[in-house]
Amino acid sequence: PSQRDALKARARDLLKAKNAVLVAHYYVEGELQDLALETGGIVADSLEMARFGRDHASQTLVVAGVRFMGESAKILSPGKTVLMPDLDATCSLDLGCPADDFAAFCDAHPDRTVVVYANTSAAVKARADWMVTSSCALGIVNHLKDQGQKILWAPDRHLGRYIQRETGADMLLWQGDCIVHNEFKGVELQLLKAQHPNAMVLVHPESPESVVALADVVGSTSQMLSAVINGSAQEYIVATDNLIMHRMRQLAPGKTLIEAPTAGNSATCKSCAHCPWMAMNGLQGVVDCLERGTGEIHVDPVIGQKAHGCIDRMLAYVA
Ligand code: 13P
Ligand code: SF4
Repeated sequence: PSQRDALKARARDLLKAKNAVLVAHYYVEGELQDLALETGGIVADSLEMARFGRDHASQTLVVAGVRFMGESAKILSPGKTVLMPDLDATCSLDLGCPADDFAAFCDAHPDRTVVVYANTSAAVKARADWMVTSSCALGIVNHLKDQGQKILWAPDRHLGRYIQRETGADMLLWQGDCIVHNEFKGVELQLLKAQHPNAMVLVHPESPESVVALADVVGSTSQMLSAVINGSAQEYIVATDNLIMHRMRQLAPGKTLIEAPTAGNSATCKSCAHCPWMAMNGLQGVVDCLERGTGEIHVDPVIGQKAHGCIDRMLAYVA
């Protein structure tokens, strides 16, 4: 067997020996996605990852994704051991919303219900009333609006603006963005659409307004995957991290997938739409964390307990 096969077999053996389960996001490399599915784990969006980790009987979760995903798993299951292949895998939304600045923002607007995106630190979640993910944000904000609540939203400005426009809710927005989705370009997408007039355009709502405006489907990674599986079109233009195509190809093998344009994905860069932090996850990291206990997620119990409320509220709402 090749070296990769041997490493994969080692990871598989360790997952079994340690009675651990691998919880992976669609943006991690295909080998890891396959390993998760072959060993009883899951490849999913952030909402499903949180729910799966909470409900799984295994006492050790290996979360292949970015730090907020590991933290959410730990907050929901403080008694479980949560390991990550690389603890430095973060997210520009999380980095762009420091807890102290966020607390000051909340303090300045005490009349608003605080709704935060999953892509935030445990300390930011500890200050929030609700956590949402891209798959349930619209429904939850609509629900809050119907109750007459005014919202303070953080950190993704594009997702916030999209929800604001769709729901008409009164929302004050933090000005963060995702370095990956922020690079998708509306004008270039328009040109690509003209070349593929029958293609269905799928857009993650962290993308800029000009890109969302051209979408046939706006949704979370799982919702984009469902659109490819169930859609009647033959071609799909995909505006999100291109590693999602690994799973799309497996589940919809006959369909044609086209990467949405970014500033860089010209002749010189064919795959600019890939999250550098998701890319830090690999088979070696899975082996190391299981073998040596590296990459363990710790959340301050007081912060974790406070943060639990906003995640739990979301999970109860979507149940
Ligand atoms: P999803 O919840 O849609 O999987 O999004 C997570 C994410 O980080 C997107 O960039
Ligand atoms: Fe964060 Fe963007 Fe990476 Fe998702 S793709 S983890 S939002 S930086």
